[in-house]
Amino acid sequence: MPELVPILTKEEIETKVARIAARISSDYVGRRIVLIGVLKGAFVYLSDLIRHLTIPVQIDFVRVASYGDGTSSSGRIRILKTPELDLTGRDVLIVEDIVDSGLTLARLVDYFEGLGAGSVKSSAFVDKRERRETSTVIDYACHVVREGFLVGYGLDHAENYRELPGLYHLKLDS
Ligand code: IMP
Ligand code: MG
Repeated sequence: MPELVPILTKEEIETKVARIAARISSDYVGRRIVLIGVLKGAFVYLSDLIRHLTIPVQIDFVRVASYGDGTSSSGRIRILKTPELDLTGRDVLIVEDIVDSGLTLARLVDYFEGLGAGSVKSSAFVDKRERRETSTVIDYACHVVREGFLVGYGLDHAENYRELPGLYHLKLDS
């Protein structure tokens, strides 16, 4: 049976999200940014994040394919759903559940710059460092881990565990 090892409780997550939201609100004070959630994983973090922000925002989503049901990136990032808002000249903040290799984030930064966004920054609930393959900066990370496959708080393994209010390390039988 897979084992779930607790990493962050619901309360610890709320504290970290509130802290990042305060930084974002202060950095963008007086502006109205567009938060772009990367489906599906980011929907839980995005919905908590916006309720802690003190600046007006607009929301859109992209959907990318990279992983399938495995636990490591295929390296090929396809954009399956594009945003609906006109992003020309807009301040875009990409919102990710977790950044691992960084390939998805690098592809999305290029994509939004190519659409003519005025600025492109990123926030990830988890910054997972060990397998990073790009130099793309995560401007606002709630939590940094070195390694491991994490689930809960929107993060899945083969579409399971997204509903867990805490963050867990999933230990698969090998
Ligand atoms: P990257 O392109 O390798 O940075 O992968 C980004 C995407 O892979 C994330 O948006 C997640 O959907 C997925 N992913 C990477 N690591 C994990 C993990 O530990 N748990 C769940 N999903 C993950
Ligand atoms: Mg995923």
